[in-house]
Amino acid sequence: MTDWLKNSVFYQIYPQSFFDSNSDGIGDLHGITVKLDYIKDLGCDAIWINPIYDSPFMDAGYDVRDYCKIAPRYGTMDDLMHLLDEAHKRGMKILLDLVPGHTSDTNEWFKQARSGFPTEFDDRYIFTKSVWDAPPEYRLMCGVCQRDGNYLVNYFSSQPALNYGFYEVTHPEWQYSSDSPEAWATVGALKDIMRFWLDKGIDGFRVDMADSLVKNDDEKIATAKIWRDVRMMMDRDYPDAVLISEWSNPQRAIVNAGFHADFYLDHQGNGYNALFRNKQGSDNLSFFADGAHGDIEAFLAEYLPQYHFSKDSGYISFMTNNHDMPRATFYMSEWMIRLSHAFMMTMPGVPFVYYGDEIGMRYRTDLISVEGGFSRTGSRTPMQWNHEKNMGFSDADEDMLYLPLDYSEGSPTVEDQQGVGGSIFENLKSLIALRKANPELMNESGFEVVYARAKEYPFVYRRGSFTAFINPSDDDKTIDYDTNGAKEYYFLGGYEINENSVTIRSRSFLLIRHENA
Ligand code: GLC
Ligand code: CA
Repeated sequence: MTDWLKNSVFYQIYPQSFFDSNSDGIGDLHGITVKLDYIKDLGCDAIWINPIYDSPFMDAGYDVRDYCKIAPRYGTMDDLMHLLDEAHKRGMKILLDLVPGHTSDTNEWFKQARSGFPTEFDDRYIFTKSVWDAPPEYRLMCGVCQRDGNYLVNYFSSQPALNYGFYEVTHPEWQYSSDSPEAWATVGALKDIMRFWLDKGIDGFRVDMADSLVKNDDEKIATAKIWRDVRMMMDRDYPDAVLISEWSNPQRAIVNAGFHADFYLDHQGNGYNALFRNKQGSDNLSFFADGAHGDIEAFLAEYLPQYHFSKDSGYISFMTNNHDMPRATFYMSEWMIRLSHAFMMTMPGVPFVYYGDEIGMRYRTDLISVEGGFSRTGSRTPMQWNHEKNMGFSDADEDMLYLPLDYSEGSPTVEDQQGVGGSIFENLKSLIALRKANPELMNESGFEVVYARAKEYPFVYRRGSFTAFINPSDDDKTIDYDTNGAKEYYFLGGYEINENSVTIRSRSFLLIRHENA
């Protein structure tokens, strides 16, 4: 079974920016193999790699031209198999990115569907019946192909939506029901792609825009039905493999749709932002912020119901960042980032570390968009390994690099931090080790709020025999607490443990353990 998941800490790799092993200026699969021991040293034992498939890269590979072919710039199928072998030898797992909702408009299926000639792929995408039929409530590309009809896009214009049908059919002349054979033929094609990779030994998928499949499906009822069907195939034929959704609705994703885990994303106004990314103008109103004025209740009001609904069926994935949002350094000081890592590594679920966050890489706001990155480009710059040529990322000439390196003053490197006490790297490494050494901090115990008040600090929560105290604010905080002989187990900053109270210093984290709990 997928038991390995509940004890995992993931590392997310943006392959083009991680390590260039053949000096062409772009990261590659062999570059990941070479750095497996580095990832293992940090304590991560599973990896998610952003899309590595053949693509014209209008959206950095989320526009797939051929689902079963590796983009030559990343290497060959042999390179991937070698990476997989080396990872498995080290007890590590590899997830690929599955993009089920759309393809590139250069995908062979789409080329045929748009051709205007009858082909077997005519219903693989969503076309209106005539080019004059363009209801404005749909994102349609109009008059750009030979076929007499307009097609629906899922994300950028170059990403036509695959046809999983409509839950509510409002235009029967061109919309298929989500129960139609045409819609389920697409599900069949998706499952074939998944089997192709799972048969090669891949340990599962992070699923891109997992909630986007069926259209006019506000409650995601028909979309969940598709994923449950996919999950049945996984349980039957690939019981060790996992599916992790980009959905950010654990109840729907995990309970209704059958994902093993769901990302807790930075959606507007949600709990993740309340914790880490709530900048309003120049004010930072996140709970984890310097000069903190955040509201832990705003997080808990959203998180707790989702946690309770989903905890018996799967995991919520906190992440330090991902390739779609500004890096944490844009919002928090290095010290505050350490506190946020302490939080993430002591929460239930399956945490993800985005490459470079372990050293506090920065978010660049001065870059021209590359491959559809736009504001996301600044979080996708090459990994900073050392102070040698191109900061150890690549031996290529500087002008050949996928993106420029960050040479700003104090820009962090692995070399400066790995093995250096007090660094963000070593701090995160110690927190991952702490989590790994204590199954209660992973998913063997529940999560209980001990102290949380709207717009107040600290936040205190229990995980089995552990209690965590977090105080990102500028003031020391004392709360009544029957410590009952509990002892300090880990801390950042300062604290005082008394018999009936705990004082947690400004900008501090404390984990205590109740031996006799
Ligand atoms: C997801 C990906 C993002 C991509 C989009 C379209 O949100 O994380 O990078 O652009 O889907 O596939
Ligand atoms: Ca390369």
